[in-house]
Amino acid sequence: MKTRLVIVMILSLVFITFSKAQENTVVKAGLQKVKLLFLLDQNGKAAYSISFDEKKVINNSHLGFVINHHRLDSNFRIIKVDSSVVDEKWNPVWGEVKTIRNHYQQLKIQLQQKSAPFFKLNIVFKVFEEGVGFRYEFPLQNNLKFFTVNDELTEFNLTADHKAFWIPADYDSNEYPYTTSKLSEVNAWKFPLISSGTYQTNIPDQYAVQTPLMLKSNDGLYINIHEAALQNYATMQLHVNRAEHGLSANLVPDAVGNKVYLRTPAKTPWRTIIVSDKATDILASKMILNLNEPSVIANTSWIKPTKFIGVWWEMQTGRGSWSYTDNIDSLSKDGKLIPNGHHSANTANVKRYIDFASKNAIKGLLVEGWNIGWEEWTGVHKEDNFDFVTPYPDFDVKEIAKYAKAKGVEMIMHNETGSSAANYDRHMDTAFRFMNQFGYKSVKTGYVGMIIPNGEHHDGQWMMNHYERAAKKAAQYHVMIDMHEPMRPTGLSRTYPNWLASEAGRGNEWNAFSDGNAPDHETIMPFTRLMGGPMDYTPGIFKLRHYAKDAPNRQMHTTLAKQLALYITMYSPIQMAADIPENYEAHMDAFQFIKDVPVDWDDTKILEAEPGAYITIARKEKGKNNWFLGTITNENARQTTISLDFLDTNKKYSATIYGDATDADWKSNPEAYIIKKLEVDNSMKIDLLLAKGGGTAISFITKN
Ligand code: NOJ
Ligand code: CA
Repeated sequence: MKTRLVIVMILSLVFITFSKAQENTVVKAGLQKVKLLFLLDQNGKAAYSISFDEKKVINNSHLGFVINHHRLDSNFRIIKVDSSVVDEKWNPVWGEVKTIRNHYQQLKIQLQQKSAPFFKLNIVFKVFEEGVGFRYEFPLQNNLKFFTVNDELTEFNLTADHKAFWIPADYDSNEYPYTTSKLSEVNAWKFPLISSGTYQTNIPDQYAVQTPLMLKSNDGLYINIHEAALQNYATMQLHVNRAEHGLSANLVPDAVGNKVYLRTPAKTPWRTIIVSDKATDILASKMILNLNEPSVIANTSWIKPTKFIGVWWEMQTGRGSWSYTDNIDSLSKDGKLIPNGHHSANTANVKRYIDFASKNAIKGLLVEGWNIGWEEWTGVHKEDNFDFVTPYPDFDVKEIAKYAKAKGVEMIMHNETGSSAANYDRHMDTAFRFMNQFGYKSVKTGYVGMIIPNGEHHDGQWMMNHYERAAKKAAQYHVMIDMHEPMRPTGLSRTYPNWLASEAGRGNEWNAFSDGNAPDHETIMPFTRLMGGPMDYTPGIFKLRHYAKDAPNRQMHTTLAKQLALYITMYSPIQMAADIPENYEAHMDAFQFIKDVPVDWDDTKILEAEPGAYITIARKEKGKNNWFLGTITNENARQTTISLDFLDTNKKYSATIYGDATDADWKSNPEAYIIKKLEVDNSMKIDLLLAKGGGTAISFITKN
């Protein structure tokens, strides 16, 4: 991850205008269409506003805190203002593009209270082409070393009653279906598709939502509000003032109701506002990554994006079990576990998956439910639930490691913690040493249930520090990590490139055990959950109906071709082929796309996008000239014409189009697809017809 070009200009007042109208101090910044205005009013209250192309995006919005139970939001004066411009390029270890430009004007405003306790607070703004990031810094103070943040008072006052794509502000889960409504109609109790309540939800009040929050104004502006570089702090959720379309920060509390503990010098995460009149610009933005620190891992050669299959969907659909026994009571008199007869992670079954992966050049194999503890792992709030190294009697670790190695398959470890994060902290070194010993190069972790230490939340400061400890510890052992049920990401994979992905959203798996995800779900997720980083969404389900053992009428909410397109539209450097081998063997012609599709890219073009409606993305394979395209639609059928001008010039490509059959329909005929092959070049256009809930995936392979 090299910085190739850095131009830093320290400017005097060239980009800043101070004006003193009625004792207000105004500081302005902005290089292109996005402009920031900082204002300190006569009461010493700090505020900001943002415009795009002369249109207001954020009206005057206050900044500040409650710390140690005192308001820290007025009585300030400006000590100093610094401005600089940065224009640099850097190469991520893996990603959607090879090179990222980081171009912004920074404004650092140093404030101090005019009277005792003379608290100092800096506000740093970075104004990019596509938005604004700002953070607070708490410098060393005269007589205060550490303090408690009881509240953050940051506001985001919107200009009208925009359309919002939102999920409720649970402290412990992001796994909700999206609701699309006016801001004035946000009602966090409406969950249209939830039918199975495995999560204990902690919804602070009716009118609070999670970020990333996606908004669309009546006059065609797309606005995304989130945060970047969330470290040593609590997740920011947003309270919605429905009458005035105002949003304000709502930090997830700890076990005793405090929000954050800080020691000076300290800084908050960046609050981010991305804005454009084109929805495609929102998806193309790299602002959140740019606001994160460069990699702290010096040698990243061991970090490799990967495709994998898993002994997994068979458990999700009720055909196998994670646990070796039926429950904890299934102990024989001598204390031995009594097998239930349908434990999936048994050596013979695992070998079958290894054979399939090896034969089809899928590099990784995840096996869940291999270790003691699953017989009593959820809903029991058990402190000492797993040791992460003791297999069930039918899972032969050594034999499986040997067999996988011989077949060229990399085993992927699974560490479900049952949310006893304290227990995982105690066992992490042992767990990672075990992975090193048996050749596991990556781990999927999980946090189902209520957090131990008691009273902490998945999205609070304590857990943030836990997830970061896990990423750091994994890096020490050269292990890549994929976290399920952490807080939603904020771009930290730039700093820890071994933190390949997180779940932290409602994945494809919800179709296995609940009413599932509506057909528009995947057209919203890239604008919301994915803005902060990759998601382990687990696409690639081929048997779209009659897969759930105890719910014969359950079905996926996509066509088969759309499942393929998701490998492009849901960006991740790890992608699972989530279905079971038998279901792939029934459609090996379509499985070819999953075999071919890369997981690392040199370039990405967001060709079309509208949240809730459709997304079309083309990506260029890392180190090669091949391109891949994915396009998806919501519940409506869609016709689109795509210009192939993104392809390299002067090259011929063999295109394979995996599309919906003319009679396909997510509900009535989801598995009907057609595969067409043709020769194309970049002067051509192609017409695509997407079924209701459908999609199309295309590979463009070139020889040179
Ligand atoms: C929930 C995760 O999202 C899922 O992928 C996993 O299989 C189960 N927890 C068990 O760990
Ligand atoms: Ca989950």
